[in-house]
Amino acid sequence: MCGIVGYVGRKNCAEVLLSTLEKLEYRGYDSAGIAVFDKNNIEVRKAKGRIAELRAKMASEGSPEGRVGIGHTRWATHGEPSDINSHPHSGGNVTIVHNGIIENYKEIKNMLISLGREFVSQTDTEVAAQLLDFYYKGNPVEAIIKAIRDIRGSFALGIIFRDFPDTIFAVRKESPLIVGIGEGESFIASDVTAILNYTRDYYMPEPDEIAVLSPYSTKIYGLNYNQLDKPLHHADWDENAAEKQGYAHFMIKEINEQPDAVKTTVVPRVTDGLPDLSECGITYDMLRGFKRINIAACGTAMHAGLVGKYIIEDLAEIPVNVDIASEFRYRKPLVKKDDLVIIISQSGETADSLAALRLSKSLGAKTLAIVNAKGSSIAREADMTIYTLAGPEIAVASTKAYMVQIAVMYLFAFAAAYANGAISEQRCRELTASLLEIPEKISEAIKLNDKAQYAASTLVNADSLLYIGRGLDYALSMEGSLKLKEISYIHSESYAAGELKHGTISLVTEGMPVIAVVTQKELEEKTVSNMKELKARGAYVIVVAASNILIESDVADYVINLGECDEMLSPMTAVVPLQLIAYYTAVLKGNDVDRPRNLAKSVTVE
Ligand code: G6P
Repeated sequence: MCGIVGYVGRKNCAEVLLSTLEKLEYRGYDSAGIAVFDKNNIEVRKAKGRIAELRAKMASEGSPEGRVGIGHTRWATHGEPSDINSHPHSGGNVTIVHNGIIENYKEIKNMLISLGREFVSQTDTEVAAQLLDFYYKGNPVEAIIKAIRDIRGSFALGIIFRDFPDTIFAVRKESPLIVGIGEGESFIASDVTAILNYTRDYYMPEPDEIAVLSPYSTKIYGLNYNQLDKPLHHADWDENAAEKQGYAHFMIKEINEQPDAVKTTVVPRVTDGLPDLSECGITYDMLRGFKRINIAACGTAMHAGLVGKYIIEDLAEIPVNVDIASEFRYRKPLVKKDDLVIIISQSGETADSLAALRLSKSLGAKTLAIVNAKGSSIAREADMTIYTLAGPEIAVASTKAYMVQIAVMYLFAFAAAYANGAISEQRCRELTASLLEIPEKISEAIKLNDKAQYAASTLVNADSLLYIGRGLDYALSMEGSLKLKEISYIHSESYAAGELKHGTISLVTEGMPVIAVVTQKELEEKTVSNMKELKARGAYVIVVAASNILIESDVADYVINLGECDEMLSPMTAVVPLQLIAYYTAVLKGNDVDRPRNLAKSVTVE
């Protein structure tokens, strides 16, 4: 989704803005732009397309020379991607960049048109720029306070005023924003990864707080124009975490980081061989009290929730509903006081997941966030938070974040099952030990790279394919199918293997690829029968199977056998070949793997 940056300091501002915007490319965007004070003029450069196109435009039109400015990557919402609709947008004295959506922009626009103002773009952002200018009478902070009172919706704004050529202003509501503090320089950005090459110290403004950045000082004000004393945060991420480090793409780098990410996430949450979530505020006593669990999330995080449902119900015997957050929030969910609602989110900023969290709190449920981005809105607002410690995930298609989300689901399920008496202490210890060993098993699964690459080569020309599985394997095949769709642009559907005959099998024609996942011994025969039915109708069947499952040559065309692993934990190894198949299919198709078309990493609008 859109990304904003801003810089005040002594360096060449245009270059700093472009380099920080490049770090936000992963969020997904379709155009980019910057505005820089050049002497006392505001010079704007913007272009549809990638930052490389903006760079090319600046090379031909000339790059502004100043030391203060703002920048933006746009993911179109109001108005098509075009040079004109790209940010920054100006209104009189004011130029802004914006991440979010202004819901009442039409109302405000009509009011401003009735006062004789004219608009050049179709964006809601230009409306905010004009509104700020309308309120501006010489004091920028006062204008911002008045304007944000009128605006409904979500926003993080970077603002410059023509009369203040050494200052940038910023304010947020819902959309993320950090304020970075370096030596004699300061920054704004949608997230901290953008500025790691310059500084690691940053403030996190709360909604409606206004940041004022100048070369001499950075101040943050409340709505009453009162100056606030904010804690300075420090990003302790590895310097290389947001770099490719020799890998062709972030996605393959992140697939390879999965064993370490799981280790980092799990090890500190185990004490004396048993899961221990007390540091996150979750005690065994508390776990005994939950009668029902609801999980709400979007995309890949929702798929992690589906794995969670199978294992929590199986081990802890607590009923679990899993909802797509955008459905949950509008379907009047029957959430009660004794319920736990778990929100899973990599970014911690997904608009629908955040809304699901707020709704659950208002219904009196206890809320638990499983979140990767520290200090994000969902993490801050939930009653309890378990951080997944995957480090920054840059590729839009999520891999390592999913892996650690399911690792946390396991820890939670083991703890809840033990707390309830649904499993013995001995079983809980065995399961926890298996989870501690899983990083090695994931590493073995990554060695299936070449087999996955071959499987991918058989898929590149497919128009459509099916993923099938039963139980946990069905939950997993949903993630496999999503991965492939996201980056290869090949249509695919995941189906519960037993449901195929009720309609979808009619799609199967000669040569149609099907990827089956078979890791659960108890369900082996059933899924294998379904594979035979597909093969009999001409399907080209690829199977990802557990080590103890023997696939006869008449059942599948290509077999990827996993190494040994506790069956309960098999999703953590079986997902790896599915990720690799999606990755190599996209690579073979020549797609932009890390930045697939139309997608955004962090979806901060409904
Ligand atoms: C977007 C991303 C997906 C992600 C989903 C939920 O659609 O492209 O990869 O799974 O949002 O994001 P979250 O940050 O809440 O996990």
